[in-house]
Amino acid sequence: MFEGRGKQVYVYEVAPRDGFQIEPTFIPTADKIALIDALSRTGLSKIEATSFTTPKAIPALRDAEEVMRGIARAEGVTYTTLVPNLRGAERALGARVDEINLVMSMSETHNLANLRMTRDQSCAQLAEVIRMVREAGTPVNVSLSTCFGCPMEGAVPPDEVWRWAERLIDAGAEGISLCDTTGMANPCQVADLVDAFIRRWPAVTLTLHLHNTRGLGLANVLAALEAGANRFDASLGGLGGCPYAPGATGNVCTEDLTHMLEAMGYRTGVDLDRLIECARRLPEMVGHPVPGQVAKAGCAGQLHPAPEWLPEVRARALERDLPSN
Ligand code: COA
Ligand code: ZN
Repeated sequence: MFEGRGKQVYVYEVAPRDGFQIEPTFIPTADKIALIDALSRTGLSKIEATSFTTPKAIPALRDAEEVMRGIARAEGVTYTTLVPNLRGAERALGARVDEINLVMSMSETHNLANLRMTRDQSCAQLAEVIRMVREAGTPVNVSLSTCFGCPMEGAVPPDEVWRWAERLIDAGAEGISLCDTTGMANPCQVADLVDAFIRRWPAVTLTLHLHNTRGLGLANVLAALEAGANRFDASLGGLGGCPYAPGATGNVCTEDLTHMLEAMGYRTGVDLDRLIECARRLPEMVGHPVPGQVAKAGCAGQLHPAPEWLPEVRARALERDLPSN
């Protein structure tokens, strides 16, 4: 069923962007930089370090330039940033990002709420950005929000996703992320959309961006894997959420996802112990508990000593087997 053993799966860290963007208390720039630097030493191949949005919309990430200037860039790690418009792309290029991750929604209502533009306006602006960014030699990915449902409109027909994906791919986007912004997807739907995407655009780099809002995050990852996807966004500690989606909560948790993939025999290249160390620093950094589970429980292979009174219990249990006379 699952290919498992030896197959490479790419885990992309988005906590510094998707996670920190909705934290009610501003995370000091130095803490953000320290976390990104620690994550850079875990073997993750891509980190979404921040976003170049207007500070009016996302005050939590108003220090994007400082973060990009402050981090120690590790070899082999792609530092990407979320960008909603032309102004954001200019700032991102100025900060010498390795990749630009553009964003627009597949539902009109969510696009208007999140980006203050119609989808047509967003798409036209993103197409222009793609041309500009590619001229500058920087790779472009586009994250398509609400692909699996909109919290305000409901179902999003796959044809809507194809319509916008086609325009952006034709404009030159090298990668597309199918995003379940508010955790509305189910495994059957994920398998269908991934399968259809790969058939239609086999040469386009596909990433899945899944939220665990309704507990289906890892189930959806498995469905996507089986349908042929091998790149997943995930967030340390399971932080995350969209500020314009009522009830939105965290991404698939990076350490929980890595733990599952490694247990199944997939190769992530990520040092799980180091990742868990990073995750255990999070509650103090953000000032509240985080949803991730593996950092609390430890890995499945981490054994605990048996209770010291066990030999006594065993002896008493064996006594019961002795003939009574
Ligand atoms: N970075 C910094 N400032 C920006 C900017 C950017 N990327 N884009 C616009 N601005 C500034 C403008 O210069 C202008 O400033 P001024 O008032 O001092 O003149 C102001 O913001 C308004 O510009 P406008 O083009 O009218 O933007 P808007 O108010 O319609 O907002 C977006 C549009 C896309 C910039 C904004 O909605 C946004 O940043 N959304 C991101 C939401 C997000 O990240 N959600 C979570 C991730 S999915
Ligand atoms: Zn998200």
